[in-house]
Amino acid sequence: MTADVKELLYREILDQWEGLARHETERLALLANTVALLHHGIRPHWTGFYLVKDTYLTLGPFQGPVACSRIDFGQGVCGQAWAARKPLIVPDVHQWPGHIACSPLSQSEVVVPVFRTEGSVVAVLDMDSAKLAAFDVIDVFWLEHMMQRLGSLWTKLT
Ligand code: SME
Repeated sequence: MTADVKELLYREILDQWEGLARHETERLALLANTVALLHHGIRPHWTGFYLVKDTYLTLGPFQGPVACSRIDFGQGVCGQAWAARKPLIVPDVHQWPGHIACSPLSQSEVVVPVFRTEGSVVAVLDMDSAKLAAFDVIDVFWLEHMMQRLGSLWTKLT
């Protein structure tokens, strides 16, 4: 996918997401539809949320194969992004210390934290690809934007 095509795709996805978010009151429903939009738009191997629960992440809405249901703080790419409070791009999961392999098909990955307005991380979005180096700064730019919007709505959703 060229950079231009990717930009256009994310613009469309974000427009659709804003439409969904405007009328949504349920957090679980919005998380589920966010995953569906991204998964069917970007078409990675796996797309999902892990939700912060005390000292670990628990599997939230996702699309793709069965995945690990629990990841400790600081463990795996998801736990590292939570601890670092920043997005992580992993071009080759086999070269990444601590990566947790939920599927042998995953080759690259991007993880973006979701912050509630008061600053705590409440979830991370994880996208895995069966291709090496599938994610770049364009993905992070748009995913961060979407996760900021989601985080700003977090406490208003039931
Ligand atoms: N690879 C992730 C685990 C989650 S699965 O990829 C769906 C990690 O290292 O945190």
